Amino acid sequence: IDIGDQKVLRGTGGELHQTSGKGVETLTTAQGAPVSDDQNSLKAGARGPTLLEDQHFREKIFHFDHERIPERVVHARGFGAHGYFEAYEPLSDVTRADLFQRKGEKTEVFVRFSTVAGNKGSADVARDVRGFAVKFYTKEGNWDIVGNNIPVFFIQDAIKFPDLIHAAKQEPDRGFPQAQTAHDNFWDFISLTPEAMNMALWIMSDRTIPRSFRFMEGFGVHTFRLVNAKGKSTFVKFHWKPKQGLQSVMWNEALKLNGADPDFHRRDLWNAIQAGDYPEWELGMQLFDEDFADKFDFDVLDATKIIPEEEVPVRIVGKMVLNRVVDNFFAETEQVAFHTGNLVPGIDFTNDPLLQGRNFSYLDTQLSRLGSTNFTHLPVNAPRCPFHHFQQDGHMAFHNPTTRANYEPNSWGPDIGGPREDPDKGFTSYPEEIDAPKGRYRSDTFSDHYSQARQFYLSQTDTEKDHIADAFTFELSKVETLAIRERMVAHLLNVDDDLAKTVAKGLRLKAIPKPANAAMPTRQDLETSAKLSIILN
Ligand code: HEM
Repeated sequence: IDIGDQKVLRGTGGELHQTSGKGVETLTTAQGAPVSDDQNSLKAGARGPTLLEDQHFREKIFHFDHERIPERVVHARGFGAHGYFEAYEPLSDVTRADLFQRKGEKTEVFVRFSTVAGNKGSADVARDVRGFAVKFYTKEGNWDIVGNNIPVFFIQDAIKFPDLIHAAKQEPDRGFPQAQTAHDNFWDFISLTPEAMNMALWIMSDRTIPRSFRFMEGFGVHTFRLVNAKGKSTFVKFHWKPKQGLQSVMWNEALKLNGADPDFHRRDLWNAIQAGDYPEWELGMQLFDEDFADKFDFDVLDATKIIPEEEVPVRIVGKMVLNRVVDNFFAETEQVAFHTGNLVPGIDFTNDPLLQGRNFSYLDTQLSRLGSTNFTHLPVNAPRCPFHHFQQDGHMAFHNPTTRANYEPNSWGPDIGGPREDPDKGFTSYPEEIDAPKGRYRSDTFSDHYSQARQFYLSQTDTEKDHIADAFTFELSKVETLAIRERMVAHLLNVDDDLAKTVAKGLRLKAIPKPANAAMPTRQDLETSAKLSIILN
């Protein structure tokens, strides 16, 4: 048999043995021992049982048996690529972050795009939010913008995230539907969660069926904080604007694509980069200060709201180019670990209660997903700047301290004493003053759930509005419980009368329900349980 210029032998059963030599490496065990026969296990006699002492066989099967790691609890299906970010101008007026100090400065990045609800093997062109997570390997450590392609979110407080995701994923008794917003549990939760209405309009728009990852915007969603060298703070919302433009597919196209090629989006990105057609996004920032923030009639700490670009224009500060596919999907795309808590000096959080919860969640979930506290040792997660700390041991430790000192303060000299603090260059949290009683609050500045949903709907073209009505009708028609359909129409009446009535007609509701109660209870209303029960009744 001719396989190139390799020497091939035939075994006694006719099986092929491709052999090494002539520049072809020798197959070894994981311990490096050369393997003589990878086609037949060791047996007692030609027809006898396989022997336990076959170390090569046992090692090979053992390793295979453990190939799977848990998929991400959300955003399980994703696709990653490498590239760089280039700053257009110094931003030292607003931040001391090193990557924004010099015009033309390039920073390596790794990006992972994803769907949210579907499992790892689900189809790409599902109607779903897309994750847009960027890791910047800066000279002062890794900074992650863990964003989405939609600028707002379903919920205001991270304590509701498990409920949202449980409702969106497969129903627990039947294990379906997968990656579909079209089911009772999802719309039951949404219809009982008025704060989700703005997001509900966005997800029923064309934005959740993008033509490819290359034609989507990205958003950091939360209000973050930039801090300059003098300690002055500026609020910021992050935006990624695709230079390719913004494009979506039609719903009937999405259905066909998912059937014909469930890998449509990942194939598109792979092919574009391999062909040298590198996709680019510009990074934009909406910058404003505390006084300006107080003038809005919504709260900038509420992740269900955007800041209209007419009120705070987006300042374009740099561009990102994706120019290299991964060498190995598992090593890079699957094992990459993004975290909203990965910040560098000059960038900080705000008190957005959704962001605060995320800051706990990512590290926690990655321990169970990647199996060890040492996942920062993996090349895709390791900083590309020098790093020195006293963390040690644990499963799979690659970077243990190599000198005598593994604690500080210590009295050893610079050769063995290890790294020291840097009060000037080190990360410092913005010293925001907090003096308030503890309590399980929902601020009454978070209570207008319909104005921005209406604003978004009215900003759409007539065709786009039709698509929104069609999407609501299609998705809600899959909901079996009539009361849930009616509850959603009751919410839509607070957004737009025509939209609500079109959907009601599409669903063949017998009567138009009363609009949902738009006057949300304030914190003061909720202070006693007696009042709470009155409101709920
Ligand atoms: C994963 C975005 C809210 C928990 C992700 C990923 C993105 C993302 C892009 C995928 C990361 C990757 O590609 O590896 C967002 C955005 C949110 C949001 C934009 C709201 C504005 C939350 C909240 C929680 C949460 C509130 C929990 C309190 C998680 C978890 C993962 C994840 C556990 C899996 C991470 C992993 O296994 O590596 N999120 N998320 N997210 N998110 Fe969020």
